[in-house]
Amino acid sequence: MPDFPTGFRWGVSTSAYQIEGATTVDGRGPSIWDTFAREPGRIVDGSTGDEACDHYHRHAEDTALLAGLGVSAYRFSIAWPRVQPTGAGPAHTAGLDFYDRLVDGLLAAGVDPVATLFHWDLPQALEEAGGWLNRDTAARFAEYADLTAARLGDRVKLWITLNEPFIHMSLGHGIGTHAPGRMLLFDAFPVAHHQLLGHGLAVDALRARTASPVAIANNYSPVRQVGDTDADRAAAQAYDALHNRLFTDPLLGRGYPDAPGLDPAVIHDGDLDVLAAPIDVLGVNYYNPTGIRAPEEGSPLPFEMVPLDGYPRTAFDWPVAPDGLRELLLQLHDRYGDALPPVQVTESGCAYDDVPDAQGRVDDPERIAYLDGHLRAVHEAITAGVPVTGYFVWSLLDNWEWAEGFTKRFGLVHVDYPTQRRTPKSSYAWFRDLARR
Ligand code: BGC
Repeated sequence: MPDFPTGFRWGVSTSAYQIEGATTVDGRGPSIWDTFAREPGRIVDGSTGDEACDHYHRHAEDTALLAGLGVSAYRFSIAWPRVQPTGAGPAHTAGLDFYDRLVDGLLAAGVDPVATLFHWDLPQALEEAGGWLNRDTAARFAEYADLTAARLGDRVKLWITLNEPFIHMSLGHGIGTHAPGRMLLFDAFPVAHHQLLGHGLAVDALRARTASPVAIANNYSPVRQVGDTDADRAAAQAYDALHNRLFTDPLLGRGYPDAPGLDPAVIHDGDLDVLAAPIDVLGVNYYNPTGIRAPEEGSPLPFEMVPLDGYPRTAFDWPVAPDGLRELLLQLHDRYGDALPPVQVTESGCAYDDVPDAQGRVDDPERIAYLDGHLRAVHEAITAGVPVTGYFVWSLLDNWEWAEGFTKRFGLVHVDYPTQRRTPKSSYAWFRDLARR
């Protein structure tokens, strides 16, 4: 592996609902994921995040794993329903106390705390008032950001407002495979705009409380056009606008692109200025490219997704395509030029069916190959002039993978859920050697 620039941030990521468990402890309110996971048929193995990795009670052990890994940063998310159990009103001290302990433990271990404010676990009470379809949720989000930064703003080293607003809009509100399970297709656009509005208002709230840098973490997927007709080209452009530009063009001051479903009536005067509040870092989450061709006649979508041949595949059946990460970073650089702030890859990783051997060891050479390829792609992008300043592996621990429940393992550390025993995999040692170097 070639050398990375001095000061490059080596990290790992997690999110609250996927690891914390303790969903009714210390006054946490219910979130949309507690509700959704209980609905029959939503989660493949019928599980919930009630216990997950029990990180709420085992955070000290997990912080020791981070220290042993030698990473300089840990990206976690804060559960809004711990800070405001009903999504409104004053800060719930017992909920913030947990993050206070976590942050102090990280700092004592020499690991920079990187906090995401919203990784999809909206307080259920806000959903009942319309959730992100309701413009008021943006104002509620800024209030929650203010309360959280008032307590942690002196110690968190990087704030991330939202995680993957595109995925929350499309899976949560477009096709309903994630919470809150709405199936609005392109009528989900208000969810995009209100999240971005909440982001912009939260940036201002954070600036008032902290001097630490502020970011957003977007999901990107470079489009591979399948077929060569004008209709295929139009389909690829439509998908690219939706997935890769809808949330980035307005953030970087360009206004919305021409994307399917865009409804100008949702955008009020002055909103675009709020959305474009300057950010210090753009978080990039990347897993795989997407194959797109023209849809069949009568399809409700202006594109059709097609599997990409010729790549190895993860347990999720996602193609392993490190070249897609390089392509994406170069594309961001070309598209936005000087308007592009420094980029950190805030998620990159893969699921495999990792099983301990007879000696209890977990060997995961595919994950090592995956990370090796993706880090080389990042290095190539840096060499080509893209300002990439960090890379976070998804994820520290095997965890509760949303609609896939406990069936997909993304961790550098294996978790045996019945006993909660943590076993570092061989990828943990590999990444440690790299991060320490
Ligand atoms: C999400 C994570 C998720 C990962 C793997 C990302 O879209 O931010 O929460 O576990 O992908 O599916």
